Amino acid sequence: MRVVVGITGGIAAYKAVSVVRAFVLAGHSVQVVATDAALRFVGKPTLEAISRNPVYTELYEGVAEVRHVAIGQSADLIVVAPATANFIAQLAGGFAADLLGNTILASRAPLVIAPAMHTEMWQNAATQANIATLTGRGVTIVGPAVGQLTGSDAGPGRMSEPEDIVAAALAVVDSPGDLAGRRILVTAGGTREPLDPVRFIGNRSSGKQGVAIALAALARGAAVTLIGANLEIDVPDTISVQNVSTTAELAAAVSATAADAAVVIMAAAVADYRPESVAPSKIKKESQGDTLNLTLVKNPDILHDVSATKRADQLVVGFAAETETDPDTLLALGRAKIARKGCDFLVINSVGWTTGFATDGNDVRILNATGDIVGEASGSKRDVANRILDVLL
Ligand code: C5P
Repeated sequence: MRVVVGITGGIAAYKAVSVVRAFVLAGHSVQVVATDAALRFVGKPTLEAISRNPVYTELYEGVAEVRHVAIGQSADLIVVAPATANFIAQLAGGFAADLLGNTILASRAPLVIAPAMHTEMWQNAATQANIATLTGRGVTIVGPAVGQLTGSDAGPGRMSEPEDIVAAALAVVDSPGDLAGRRILVTAGGTREPLDPVRFIGNRSSGKQGVAIALAALARGAAVTLIGANLEIDVPDTISVQNVSTTAELAAAVSATAADAAVVIMAAAVADYRPESVAPSKIKKESQGDTLNLTLVKNPDILHDVSATKRADQLVVGFAAETETDPDTLLALGRAKIARKGCDFLVINSVGWTTGFATDGNDVRILNATGDIVGEASGSKRDVANRILDVLL
């Protein structure tokens, strides 16, 4: 296989040598395309010796062989390690400012990138939005890992280990689109129940985990329907979102789309109760006493209803976000819940004032219908999403 290894200008570039080496030793032909900045961190002779090929950097060299597109056109796989924040932004914007940018734009090969940067840069909203864009386009993101960074700081941002990058990249080529041909319905976010035109009862779900599942399923070839309840994150254009707000709207949207789906994943946090009546105008404290009593009525349990009416060839997956911190009690709650709901799988996680909601990471256990743990995952919501999909497969 012809593998292009792109190297951009971060200190982790020194570890790209091991990435190149692993591909060569696995019998692949490797073409290194490095940015000028990358060559400040690692020497061209090193990369040429290890890759057994000339290393290309310059856009205006090899013009007669139309090198700026030829490398990308003939690649079977492109791996960029490390991918800096700047390079990720360039990629998300579709820029072809250098030879690596041209190579990627001119290629139909699967693209795998291994981000490496300081934690603040990785967590910056711009970088996260760019990553979401790339994921939506089917780019596979490996890492970053959590650990020691260049200075005395530590956290998410460290480039994944070279062997992990190579394994993830080869897996992309070996199993393109393992969800191809399947339609997956995902609900994400949290429903809101209005009290009056300006107020609602809601919850703190941002929709990050549900959207991560939708993007991961899309990247694996599924046809994805995403129903978003008050999403607090941007969704790339590659997924069209059906936006809803209340539980009744979510129920209607799910019942209109569930029949077409092979898999229904109910990641949205749904309000169990709604105000019995919605005031037509703003409730004024002047017309209330020192206390305000609200009467709430029960909402339909969408997950229960979808599970009760599902076809034998459909899978229905529920989520259980609990504030219980003891793992055994959490598990017991999960087992009782899946028995009550009647779904095929239940993803349990623990949430609290500072955990679970609107965070970038998650830690879950997956139960089957008989209450056995059939999967566990922790890490980024994207990694957790892929693990859930692995279990469903
Ligand atoms: O009962 P609980 O709210 O903990 O259950 C969570 C699961 O049930 C989630 O998958 C959620 O989407 C779903 N649910 C629902 N309808 C409700 C309440 C929860 O579909 N009224």
